[in-house]
Amino acid sequence: MLSHLIINSYKKKKKNPFSLGNMRGGFPGHEVGVVVFVLLTNVAVIGSSSVGVNWGTRATHQLPPDLVVHMLEQNGFNKVKLFEADDRILQALVGSNIEVMLAIPNNMLLEISQDPKAAADWVEANVTTYFYRGGVKIRYIAVGNEPFLQAYNGSYLRTTFPALRNIQHALNHAGFGTMIKATVPFNADVYDSPESNPVPSAGDFRTDVRELSLQIIQFLYTNGAPFTVNIYPFLSLYNNPYFPVDFAFFDGSSRPVRDNGLVYTNVFDANLDTLIWAMEKAGYGDMKIIVGEVGWPTDGDKSANIENARRFNQGLLDHVSSGLGTPLRKGDIDVYLFSLIDENEKSIEPGSFERHWGVFEYDGKPKYELDMSRLHGQRGLVPVEGVAYMPKRWCVLNLNAHDVEALADNVDYACSLSDCTALGYGSSCNHLTARENASYAFNMYYQINDQHDWDCDFSGLAVVTDVDPSDGLCLFPITIVRSASRSVRARLLGVLIGFVVRHFVLWLCVIF
Ligand SMILES: *[C@@H]1O[C@H](CO)[C@@H](O)[C@H](O)[C@H]1NC(C)=O
Ligand SMILES: *[C@@H]1O[C@H](CO)[C@@H](O)[C@H](O)[C@H]1NC(C)=O
Ligand SMILES: *[C@@H]1O[C@H](CO)[C@@H](O)[C@H](O)[C@H]1NC(C)=O
Repeated sequence: MLSHLIINSYKKKKKNPFSLGNMRGGFPGHEVGVVVFVLLTNVAVIGSSSVGVNWGTRATHQLPPDLVVHMLEQNGFNKVKLFEADDRILQALVGSNIEVMLAIPNNMLLEISQDPKAAADWVEANVTTYFYRGGVKIRYIAVGNEPFLQAYNGSYLRTTFPALRNIQHALNHAGFGTMIKATVPFNADVYDSPESNPVPSAGDFRTDVRELSLQIIQFLYTNGAPFTVNIYPFLSLYNNPYFPVDFAFFDGSSRPVRDNGLVYTNVFDANLDTLIWAMEKAGYGDMKIIVGEVGWPTDGDKSANIENARRFNQGLLDHVSSGLGTPLRKGDIDVYLFSLIDENEKSIEPGSFERHWGVFEYDGKPKYELDMSRLHGQRGLVPVEGVAYMPKRWCVLNLNAHDVEALADNVDYACSLSDCTALGYGSSCNHLTARENASYAFNMYYQINDQHDWDCDFSGLAVVTDVDPSDGLCLFPITIVRSASRSVRARLLGVLIGFVVRHFVLWLCVIF
């Protein structure tokens, strides 16, 4: 391993743009006040760290991206991770100060791994277009998403590293290499400690991906790029009924883990340090690490609720902004919360909770309070403003309908084409009666289909009402207006003009 010899080339710390000297010069005669102001500003803006969010788009009804970007700025989220280069979102980010980690989906890895031209095209179309002064602050390219996940059966083992190399080379070739680094977000399942000695210092990479992981790590390290990992304490709890609950959170544990003189009171630190130990053993003890996803869902399981999500995310924010780091590594922890907004179209194969990771509801309302004051000097979360809702109408079971033979089938149909994950065991609407269950299912189908009258029939079993069927726990949502896309319209216009021009040229050729 030559890594010990390589001088660490990534930037250690952001340079403080609020230099005291400048501020003083600007406000002569107000030295004391200015000093206090500057200190507060430094704490608020620079803090010890900044917190990012994952902005996924697997939802039937998306909030207008420009409104979301405004909300992110107001809340002091100054980094986002996008799962693909969504043109509308990137357009909305133009001119903002928000740093972007832009991902390439797994299904593009094969082509990009085989063909440097495909990598160059991707960079040209999805980076060069937006990366200019005053454009989008793209900082990282995430090549794939958890490509070594055991559930993928090795499908991306051969393509990930070549794709990473091709993308970084394309970035370098475009002249962005020092400013934009390619990385790969891994699931924390690429490393572990043996069951016989489950402590961080026993950590190492999973045997089947060890060699490959180390090759990738060496490439990242040499290039000054970070290692990115997704860490999910919720899943530790979800997958193991004996997992000590308070060890999943950040407010102390009655059963801390002791390891080589270090004391672990939460699984997040223990997990991150397991990775750092694994790196250390391979000679990359000072590798920069980004936590690409971390969070807690609010519905779809008995441990997934508002209280736990608030407890976890607040604890996480306080922890990462304290600058204390993990027991093994002091300093900032770079995290991207998972996630920004609920996504009702995500696969629920991992569990019903999968559609409920948002810190914000589908309509951009915060689900719970988070004290963000350490990040930007302001408590509480600001909602997305200016959201357009459909009318206050719900679709419910018609109480006069007595032919309930077909009820079960209709409920199944409605649920299969909408989202009934809130009805399940341990979820927010699990207390509903069977008839209320039917109303819930009918309403979800009706709302997802934009409240068309013909989508509230169900063999005559359903009826539209303007009386809100929600109770204090279970929300019967009203959908938001689908955001018409400026850029889709612009693209259609572009296609149309292109078509006309091409045909005009053809016509000229024919004439002459
Ligand atoms: C740019 O990214 C989008 C979204 O992932 C993808 O559909 C498109 O193919 C990419 N463009 C190129 C030229 O690869
Ligand atoms: C992985 O293998 C399992 C069992 O053979 C199979 O059920 C699953 O669909 C496979 N997944 C993928 C992504 O190929
Ligand atoms: C309501 O539906 C859920 C999910 O299908 C089910 O678990 C629950 O038992 C149903 N409740 C009643 C009272 O039938």
